[in-house]
Amino acid sequence: MPGIGSAQAEQAVSATTRQGAAPRGGLVARGVGKTFAQRSGQALQALDDIHFELPPNSVGVLLGPSGCGKSTLLRIIAGLETQDCGEITVAGAAVQGPGVDRGMVFQNYSSFPWLTVEENVAFGLKARGESMNLREGVVGHFIDAVKLTGFEKAYPHQLSGGMQQRVAIARSLVSNPAVLLMDEPFGALDPETRWQMQSLLLEIVQKERTTVLMVSHDIEEALYLGDVVFFMGTRPGRILQTIRPGFEKSSNDRDAILDEPQYRVLERDIRQLMRAQSLETAH
Ligand SMILES: Nc1ncnc2c1ncn2[C@@H]1O[C@H](COP(=O)(O)OP(=O)(O)OP(=O)(O)O)[C@@H](O)[C@H]1O
Ligand SMILES: [Mg+2]
Repeated sequence: MPGIGSAQAEQAVSATTRQGAAPRGGLVARGVGKTFAQRSGQALQALDDIHFELPPNSVGVLLGPSGCGKSTLLRIIAGLETQDCGEITVAGAAVQGPGVDRGMVFQNYSSFPWLTVEENVAFGLKARGESMNLREGVVGHFIDAVKLTGFEKAYPHQLSGGMQQRVAIARSLVSNPAVLLMDEPFGALDPETRWQMQSLLLEIVQKERTTVLMVSHDIEEALYLGDVVFFMGTRPGRILQTIRPGFEKSSNDRDAILDEPQYRVLERDIRQLMRAQSLETAH
């Protein structure tokens, strides 16, 4: 990390924790509904009566077929879209719009192409008027956490997809959000990079004590990362099942998890749910 030692970095990071950010807390949805008016004039009920509770410091996964409203739900939680009914709370406070208590990693890599890696990561802190000293420490800490040290001056187009996504993750973690929202963050990565990114994510969120809600299409990813998996169905988008995989997670025992009989049963059940959903939408 240029110009700052790790003890200083730790201090800087805890300074943002104290100053800026929201208290640690869980995420709750109560009766959230959303209907879109379509061009044809017909109404499309994207979300119907969504209820869930995600305890602090846990990872929730929204899993379900295309079009079941996963991104819409995430955007509502981020405050980028308004629901028609119901309520979202973070650490007990109702979401009224975007806020520093929630970080968002979008479905497509979402770094600013005209800014370097460190400028991208610093963006939120700069917008909040944090001092240059504090910014340097925190930015360095998170660039290090996502293993991009040495690439501080690079522009996004000079990075691989996996590296760009790590920039987006560092950028959203830098404001120390209570809740990190991620829309299929690893969808476009090859299996090995994806695996590395999943382990890295677990490592970071456990250290930073962040609550995570992520969207995934991938059953293995959902069962590996999720403390709780919300399986959603379409027409209207709703939560059909809440699954608590409960596997002990560490980067070393992943293969062991995949071999567990309990894992195989859960995977088969979810595949059947997926199949039933695609048959339903085919009619
Ligand atoms: N702004 C909008 N206006 C009208 N309809 C919308 C809008 N945003 C989403 N929809 C519709 O709401 C439904 C849910 O969309 P959403 O993007 O949330 O699905 P998704 O589960 O994220 O799908 P995917 O897995 O393909 O990303 C879709 O039928 C979509 O066409
Ligand atoms: Mg989506």
